[in-house]
Amino acid sequence: MTDDTNSSNAMWGGRFAAGPDAIMEAINASISFDKRLYAQDIRGSRAHAAMLAATGILTNSDAEAIGEGLLTVLSEIEAGDFPFSTALEDIHMNVEARLKALIGEPAGRLHTARSRNDQVATDFRLWVRDQADAAITSLTALMKVLVAQAEKGADWVMPGFTHLQTAQPVTWGHHMMAYVEMFARDRSRFEDARKRMNECPLGSAALAGTGFPIDRHMTAQALGFDRPMANSLDGVSDRDFALEFLSAAAICSVHLSRLAEELVIWSSAQFRFVAMSDKWSTGSSIMPQKRNPDAAELIRAKIGRVLGAAVALFTVMKGLPLAYSKDMQEDKEQVFDAADTLMLALAAMTGMMSDLTVNTAKLEAAASSGFSTATDLADWLVREAGLPFREAHHVTGSLVALAEKKGCDLPDLSLEELKSAHPALTEAVYSVLGVHNSVASRQSYGGTAPDQVRAQVARWQGLLA
Ligand code: ARG
Repeated sequence: MTDDTNSSNAMWGGRFAAGPDAIMEAINASISFDKRLYAQDIRGSRAHAAMLAATGILTNSDAEAIGEGLLTVLSEIEAGDFPFSTALEDIHMNVEARLKALIGEPAGRLHTARSRNDQVATDFRLWVRDQADAAITSLTALMKVLVAQAEKGADWVMPGFTHLQTAQPVTWGHHMMAYVEMFARDRSRFEDARKRMNECPLGSAALAGTGFPIDRHMTAQALGFDRPMANSLDGVSDRDFALEFLSAAAICSVHLSRLAEELVIWSSAQFRFVAMSDKWSTGSSIMPQKRNPDAAELIRAKIGRVLGAAVALFTVMKGLPLAYSKDMQEDKEQVFDAADTLMLALAAMTGMMSDLTVNTAKLEAAASSGFSTATDLADWLVREAGLPFREAHHVTGSLVALAEKKGCDLPDLSLEELKSAHPALTEAVYSVLGVHNSVASRQSYGGTAPDQVRAQVARWQGLLA
């Protein structure tokens, strides 16, 4: 609901004879999106009013009326019967105007020693801080699901790829744990960003601070911040906390998108490594056999929105002189959309990964083809026959060519055929040509051997408990 009037703005219109042009109002107003900050705005205002009373700037009775009135506004908004007004521009002035209607004169004292500049900076920080917490929680849930997958499949053998060509056998658990490491770094990026953003801009006022004897430590503490920001110009001017959130979100989206792409490939008819549950697939309206991995595809695509939001806000902020400029009102929609997108993608990925069925026979068959143990053969020649690796590589290459010509795999070659490539090859080499021996041999720290994977699983189970 809007109540567009042609009079000047009730909040700042003292020097204006007429109201804004309708198009001016349309470009200027942010209420259509910044209403999402209502809870943070009311929380910030209540902390501010309590501080104004504690420092003797407001009377206790005025501050109480304000505090109570703000709670009424909060419940009206939450009940969905709040008359949002475009003429009142943004959430800050909508709330204040409603407060005035509810409690009268004391409402006009709330804005003492404060400006919308520090108000919006505070509200938005509170909102982004909540989103960083939500991202940390969601990432933890996803990591737990991936660790559980890794534990189940610590010794399921699958092809490891480079260039999407079969490279060497790896374990399913190893592959899952690779993503656990990536998402763990994403989580720590949100944790770092949260720590840095946890300083309070409130009390910076318009830009220069205020002559009123405010207590910025009190409001900072009331709002859960570690301390007030130390420079009022910085307090109202910077949005690096939002940029950090978007940067962390963009990197996390890249990781989600890569895993999503693997799910698309793995669930294809050509691979059949995994099957998505009914809950996470869709059918085709024309091709009855289809089972489409839509959620994975959409996660893969959504990186565009998150990255786009980051680029948009970086572009808004670059080149802005200190202190506040209205440009900065453009921060919110980008961050809102990126945060919504990220949370949805994280939830969908967590659901898909926990419901995933893995076709271990398919994995193993694929791991056993494509000469995946050629490196093991070359390593054997180095280890057992003392060949330089380059020569061993060459000998193995000739055996791959021979197997390819015969249409078989390396373990299918006869001992004579092996010996024709190099006389040092003996019966014993067959043991390293099997995929299970191959993965079991990769015991280097962080390697794909089931023992190594189980050690990493145990480490993460401890960390995530
Ligand atoms: N809606 C504005 C924003 O989001 C609030 C701050 C307005 N400050 C000002 N000086 N006009 O940035």
